[in-house]
Amino acid sequence: MAAATHVLGLSLANPVVIGSGLLTDQERNIRRLLETGAGAVVTKTIHPSPPTGLDERILRLPTGMINSTTYSKRSVDHWAGILRDLARDRLPVIASLHADSPAELAELAAQVEATGCRALELGISCLNEEDGLEDTPERVQAYTAAVRAVTRAPFSVKLAVGEGLHARAFAAARAGADAVTISDTLPAAAVHPETGDLRLGGVFGYSGPGIKPLVLAALWKLRRAGFTLPVLGSGGVQSGRDVHDYLQVGAVAAQVYTALHTDMYPTLARIVAETAGPENPGRGSEPVTGAGRPERVRP
Ligand SMILES: Cc1cc2nc3c(=O)[nH]c(=O)nc-3n(C[C@H](O)[C@H](O)[C@H](O)COP(=O)(O)O)c2cc1C
Repeated sequence: MAAATHVLGLSLANPVVIGSGLLTDQERNIRRLLETGAGAVVTKTIHPSPPTGLDERILRLPTGMINSTTYSKRSVDHWAGILRDLARDRLPVIASLHADSPAELAELAAQVEATGCRALELGISCLNEEDGLEDTPERVQAYTAAVRAVTRAPFSVKLAVGEGLHARAFAAARAGADAVTISDTLPAAAVHPETGDLRLGGVFGYSGPGIKPLVLAALWKLRRAGFTLPVLGSGGVQSGRDVHDYLQVGAVAAQVYTALHTDMYPTLARIVAETAGPENPGRGSEPVTGAGRPERVRP
């Protein structure tokens, strides 16, 4: 049995954490993901003004998916009941939270802490809102400081790889975050072959194996820049080997999300088993093409 992983004050049986998304929007799924072996589960992002009538869609690509979802459609009160039940059972659940202003997010964090929920993730970096997201260190600082001022619960600030990541990560650390989660989805587009229009109607969040090398590079550079706060890696985990790659570049745990849109529970069970396997963590999921092995370029 592997040593426990410590994340946000929680002692996890393993470093495989389920990332926030549609699959973690239901208590039943959260419980079953934990029963299947997840170290912890992050809820779908809870927002005081849940979206209504949104056209939420997913587009699968060979290298991942683009999704146009934003926040949970369930009310804060509804979530408070679920979180209370999960906390009563001492389950390792991390509540993902966002709001329209730092003050509103602080209020939500205090409300959620009162349910007994022991850890939070500030899901402040979703780019699927109407005008996308231009994130800045000042914005990250404001949200982080507002939450830190009202709660003792450990929390991670979720950021997306991209412009100014180092300044944003250091801003979260300075403002009192206990960890950062990197990365949220990245802006992406696909063109409809017949109409020439952008599919899903615009630029939305890209996830899955295509983003993993970008996130690994970002984490590696962040560590080289002297960033010492715990990092939860997120992006393209499909196997135990991928989890270990994240640990190798300095993450304390790895989140998995998009991979679970295919055969959710068996896929999770495989990733957890591969992560625990001492000799060959990626066994069974090695790409058949030999991808990952550097090729010599012939002149
Ligand atoms: C359909 C879908 C919904 C998502 N919803 C959320 C969300 O509500 N809050 C959040 O912080 N991240 C959300 N994410 C981002 C994931 O938690 C994760 O950070 C990202 O997809 C990268 O990891 P992956 O490649 O393993 O999916 C969502 C991703 C997808 C694909």
